Amino acid sequence: MFEQQPQNLQLHVQQLANEALQKAEPSAWFEVLYAEAQGDTTQIPWANLAPHPYILEWLTNHQQFVRGQKALIIGCGLGDDAEALAHLGFEVTAFDISPTAIAWCQQRFPDSLVNYVVADLFAVPAQWHQAFEFVFECRNIQALPLNVRFGAISSVASFVAPGGTLLLITHVRDTEAEPSGPPWALSDSELERFESLGLQQVEKVLYRESEQFDVKQVRIEYQRS
Ligand SMILES: C[S@@+](CC[C@H](N)C(=O)[O-])C[C@H]1O[C@@H](n2cnc3c(N)ncnc32)[C@H](O)[C@@H]1O
Repeated sequence: MFEQQPQNLQLHVQQLANEALQKAEPSAWFEVLYAEAQGDTTQIPWANLAPHPYILEWLTNHQQFVRGQKALIIGCGLGDDAEALAHLGFEVTAFDISPTAIAWCQQRFPDSLVNYVVADLFAVPAQWHQAFEFVFECRNIQALPLNVRFGAISSVASFVAPGGTLLLITHVRDTEAEPSGPPWALSDSELERFESLGLQQVEKVLYRESEQFDVKQVRIEYQRS
């Protein structure tokens, strides 16, 4: 699933991200992009209007555990992953920093059982600490620059309840050198951070999406013992 975007959209995203980085507000450009789109999903590069296929693949083997479990979806975008989990019986909270994205989810899914919330990964409610049996982080950490990476990883890990699961889907890079972005793929040492925060790796699946452009994504299941 190597997403080819129209070049003008790629350049626009790059420009918005650069402007936000210059102001040291790395999450600020997402609301601008969602608002500018005015309901046109083709203007949101990551919006596939379907749950991510790698979580669907994982769920085929793990559905028996889900009913009634509390799930948190980080950076939920337009809500497709959150809806898929709610349909399976999870009690889902899904958050995004963009008020327009959250309103868009509520408009797309008016009968949803998902609790959609505007929230910032770097300033989350205290009651979310270790409060979720299932946490889903998909392509959000990689959308944030390296200077906020450890804070983002700490926040993601903090949501996982004792015995709970974190499912992570992210692009990865082979070196520790700083990549150009967005997205900024994760390195091995960044992934190791999850384990230093009390999460054990249960399974790691590597998806090689483009040999030509060396695009690799991983799906990692962690558990807090
Ligand atoms: C690259 S998109 C990925 C969306 C979705 N997870 C997916 O895989 O399709 C990153 C998402 O994270 C959200 N986001 C960025 N910074 C955030 C923050 N500090 N707190 C919460 N959400 C944030 C953006 O608004 C955007 O919806």
